[in-house]
Amino acid sequence: MDLFEYQARDLFEASGVPVLAGAVASTPEQAQQAAEKIGGKVVVKAQVKIGGRGKAGGVKLAENPSDAFEKAKAILGMDIKGHTVHKVMIAGAAPIESEYYLAILLDRAARSFLVMASVSGGMDIEEVAHKTPEKLAKVHVDPNAGISAENALEIVRKGGFPADVERAVAEVLVTLWKTFKDSDATLVEVNPLVKTTDGRIIALDGKVTLDDNAAFRHPDHEALIDHAATNPLEALAKEKDLNYVKLDGEVGVIGNGAGLVMSTLDVVAYAGEKFGGVKPANFLDIGGGASAQVMADGLSIILGDPAVKSVFVNVFGGITACDAVANGIVQALAMLGDKATKPIVVRLDGNNVVEGRRILNEANHPLVQQLDTMDGAAARAAELAAK
Ligand SMILES: Nc1ncnc2c1ncn2[C@@H]1O[C@H](COP(=O)(O)OP(=O)(O)O)[C@@H](O)[C@H]1O
Ligand SMILES: [Mg+2]
Repeated sequence: MDLFEYQARDLFEASGVPVLAGAVASTPEQAQQAAEKIGGKVVVKAQVKIGGRGKAGGVKLAENPSDAFEKAKAILGMDIKGHTVHKVMIAGAAPIESEYYLAILLDRAARSFLVMASVSGGMDIEEVAHKTPEKLAKVHVDPNAGISAENALEIVRKGGFPADVERAVAEVLVTLWKTFKDSDATLVEVNPLVKTTDGRIIALDGKVTLDDNAAFRHPDHEALIDHAATNPLEALAKEKDLNYVKLDGEVGVIGNGAGLVMSTLDVVAYAGEKFGGVKPANFLDIGGGASAQVMADGLSIILGDPAVKSVFVNVFGGITACDAVANGIVQALAMLGDKATKPIVVRLDGNNVVEGRRILNEANHPLVQQLDTMDGAAARAAELAAK
């Protein structure tokens, strides 16, 4: 999960990373009140989960609270690279002398953590990385050892920081490492980290990605979820403990096992080419225990997607035998009753397939068709979706 900047600021503040006072607002009135509270000049910042807000006009200086009202009015509702601004953050305006860059991230390719540091931070860091990579220090971190004060100082020197700030920046880096580790983040980025004209080091912009796989260790992360932006079907699936991802096609897909479901998506997309570019509508892995309840939950989520025109249930019986899955489908359809309205193509194979097919044939549900092969079933589901 990516955090909004104001959430990253809160996390930084709680962990001891130096930040400015800040408050979030969703109306110009709230922005004005926040500016009054903070006092002096403030910055009004679009809260969208995308970089480059400054260049897009989403970060504006306000001279006083009534100016903050006007700036917030201009920024709220703005579209930044496809993201609508629903909130702004009001932060104190820092008198900037220099802009630096610090980041810690998970480097998947290297199976390690990576620290990046540069004295040339700010809005053009991508260009620095591209044109003058020597100005961007990149150092891997041993996850067990972490970043000590000495490591941090070494990295900061490598990043070209001047002697008068290197200790303060190294201290921020050690705190960032602690924040990264303790919150189970996969990214913590500060750009810019600034030196103010009066010599303070402050994190002015923060980007944090938390590892959703570690959510069970952090009950407090739940509160950071942007529910307004979560797909309602995905939220429902999560409630039911289903592995569901909404896609933008028309063929609903249910399978058992992530690998089988992934290849089902490919096969459906391929078959769909013959039917005007029909595509899979979702990923849904019902896992090993395809009980009637799990099947009913999965089917009802898929049938609740208005984009879905047909459903393809692709099951390879392993530990869960096909007869159990077939019974699951029959019972699920009975549970769903009138809510099941779209054609369902079923392909069963593997453990106890003969019995599984017999059960479905006997049930003779008007919506269900059986096909023996994955390709054949995908083609039929695509054909039905195209009708
Ligand atoms: N609180 C602040 N005070 C003064 N200047 C700021 C402040 N926050 C941001 N800026 C300026 O605006 C630029 C862009 O803001 P930033 O928060 O980094 O957004 P983005 O990275 O999305 O462009 C910064 O590089 C900095 O120069
Ligand atoms: Mg930035």
